[in-house]
This record gives sequence, structure tokens and C-alpha cells, in this order.
Amino acid sequence: MNTQNFVHWIDHPLVQHKLTLMRKKDASTNSFRTLLNELSMLMAYEVTRDMEVSYVTIETPLETMQAPTIDGKKLAIISILRAGTGILDGMLKIVPGARVGHVGLYRDPNTLESVEYFFKVPQNMSERNAIVVDPMLATGNSAVAAITRIKQTHPKSIKFMCLLACPEGIANMREAHPDVHIYTAAIDRQLNEHGYILPGLGDAGDRIFGTK
Ligand code: URA
Repeated sequence: MNTQNFVHWIDHPLVQHKLTLMRKKDASTNSFRTLLNELSMLMAYEVTRDMEVSYVTIETPLETMQAPTIDGKKLAIISILRAGTGILDGMLKIVPGARVGHVGLYRDPNTLESVEYFFKVPQNMSERNAIVVDPMLATGNSAVAAITRIKQTHPKSIKFMCLLACPEGIANMREAHPDVHIYTAAIDRQLNEHGYILPGLGDAGDRIFGTK
């Protein structure tokens, strides 16, 4: 698969080291959550790299200058429930002015279609750049459905950020949303028959919230 330009692998050693610690099956809930927080901050730095800056006049102790500034509220970070919530804190530490949205979807057991049970995003999305977050891009079905729904609000741009992706999820996203770039800390080998990423890190939601 040609992932050039469309998938951004964040290969910084700090990101890779923390991801390794998170993957270990004996990582406690507390350390998993703390590491996710730290990783989200580091990844936020990369995913916002092309953020627009404007210039303001400021006084340093020595003289007046035109200095760059960002408008954090132009960013809408949209969490796919429930595991995406684990990424929010870290990102908001880096861009505290960002607005936040949530999308909740479940899979109908009969039709296997994604059904929306919650959708709340900031107003005036057409003035904002959206970053959709979910730790795992597995089948890609929830990310695809969430982004389809978010597109109805017409954000200026959409990026997708996850910790782990796999070829199946990337292909699904590529086909459905070729305009959406993916930012990930790793591209793992494959999905198993239960839809888990291998080698992966298990169920991200359970590991964040300690529900198993
Ligand atoms: N969701 C998870 O939490 N883990 C996986 O491996 C796949 C989907």
C-alpha cells in the first residue's frame, strides 16, 4: 500500500519508547493512562505542525517586534467515544484554547452498520480545523463513519490521529476519505478475526478506564 503523504508515522524516539511501555500487558491502568497523556502531548506537537500563525505586535524588554501567535480555538479536537477521550487531556495541555467535540457510535448487531448515539461538536465548524482522535485505527469503520458525519458540519480541514493503525484500517480510510491525513505512532502488522490489532496493545478503552 502506498501510504506516502497520506499517513504520517511519528517516529520520534520518545513517542516510540512510550508506546512500547504502553503495549506491555502488565502496564497498570494508571501508567497506561499517564503514558497516553504524555504521548498525546508529543503527538499534538506533530499534528499541529502546519497550524496557521498570525503576527501580533509585542514589546520585549528591549524593543517592539512582530511575533507569531496561534488561535487555539480554531482547532476542534473531536474524540470518538469512548477511547478517544484518553487522548483529549494531553492535546488540551498543548493547545488549551482548542474546542472539543464528541462522537459516539455503536455497531448494529443485525445490520453491522454504524449507528450514532451521540454527536456534539463546537459551533461554526466551518471556521475550524478538526483533528479526530481515537487510539486505534483497526477496521477503520468507526473512524470512517465519524468523519463522514463530521464532514456534514463542513470544517476547514480534517486530520485523524491515533496511536496504532493497521493496513486494513488505513485502506478503509484511504478509500472513504482520501483527503484525511492519518497521524499515527505505529502501523502494526494486521487485524485478527476479532478486529484487534496485532501485535497491538489490547483494548484501548479497557486499558484506559480499567474496565477489564
Ligand atoms: N480497538 C481496540 O481497543 N484495540 C484493538 O486492537 C482494536 C480496536
